[in-house]
Amino acid sequence: MNTMAMTDIAALEQDLTARIMAAADEAGLEAERVAALGKKGAVSDLLKGLGAMTPEERQVMGPALNGLRDRVTQAIAARRAVLKEAELATRLEAERVDVTLPLRPSPLETGRIHPVSQVIDEITAIFADMGFKVAEGPDIETDYYNFTALNFPVGHPAREMHDTFFFNPRPDGERMLLRTHTSPVQIRTMETDKPPIRVVIPGRTYRMDSDQTHTPMFHQVEGLVIDEESTVGTMRWVLEEFCKAFFEVDRVQMRFRPSFFPFTEPSMEVDIRCRRVGNEVRFGEGDDWLEILGCGMVHPNVIRSGGLDPDRYQGFAWGMGIDRIAMLKYGMPDLRAFFDADVRWLNHYGFRPLDLPTLVGGVSS
Ligand code: DAH
Repeated sequence: MNTMAMTDIAALEQDLTARIMAAADEAGLEAERVAALGKKGAVSDLLKGLGAMTPEERQVMGPALNGLRDRVTQAIAARRAVLKEAELATRLEAERVDVTLPLRPSPLETGRIHPVSQVIDEITAIFADMGFKVAEGPDIETDYYNFTALNFPVGHPAREMHDTFFFNPRPDGERMLLRTHTSPVQIRTMETDKPPIRVVIPGRTYRMDSDQTHTPMFHQVEGLVIDEESTVGTMRWVLEEFCKAFFEVDRVQMRFRPSFFPFTEPSMEVDIRCRRVGNEVRFGEGDDWLEILGCGMVHPNVIRSGGLDPDRYQGFAWGMGIDRIAMLKYGMPDLRAFFDADVRWLNHYGFRPLDLPTLVGGVSS
């Protein structure tokens, strides 16, 4: 029986080893392990038989079977290592990355910032540097904030000049409107902030108007300074510094013409000296004048509407069309194209997302 058993063991070992070596993957190898060393495996079966043997038989068969088990275990471990390595090699082959391939352009490179947004950022960067903060107000306003509080008396003809979009009357009779200028935010700012006040107010404004230089929705930026001593001289300096920074010239020549706005006294319109070259305008030189903004000393009635004492506080304000100065600065001929959402126009006139306007890096990019 012993000699028989020993040849059987050798044959079994050969068979098991061959199958282990033939296992093609982890799952196949695991099946072979269970068939040999699992609870009901061939090797385990033989080991179970040891208990029924005589001590002499056991002395021979014990080491033989344990040796068999150890060698089969080793064979499995060795095969597993080979399979793992092969699997890694296939993955490395399949998942190869060609680092020399060209990059697909990211959204950051294809997206464009609209010139109006860019110019608003340029303007706020310049005024922020002079100590102004940014304020905003609602597009839908009451008659009070848009007109009455700004010293447009009820029935005053200046109201008609604004070609206002009105909403249908509310049950209480009040008619809301789309603000015709950013000036209502002057009042809202005085109501909430304590002097000294220095704010710039960019935003959307609306008037019933449409041609090459007018759109029903357009953008303005308003400025307001309220303290105890600011004068026309201060205003002139602030506006000159702004124009130099915005148009990126060392010198500008400005002309202050008397004008009328209900909310300022005195009121002025400001022109700057320029020369026109095609669609583009060069500033600080030439024989032409270009109107760029309206301004004035804030009317005492307006200061009072804002809840402040006009005998103590004074200041100045100005308002400017953003779209117009964007057209002038960047030589865009037709205002209506601003709002057509034509991607070809945007690709041409738009700005790259990371071209942020800063005073040190240059306001325009
Ligand atoms: N609100 C005026 C407009 O839309 C512009 C303006 C003029 C604003 C003079 C001001 C100002 O603050 O002082 O035509």
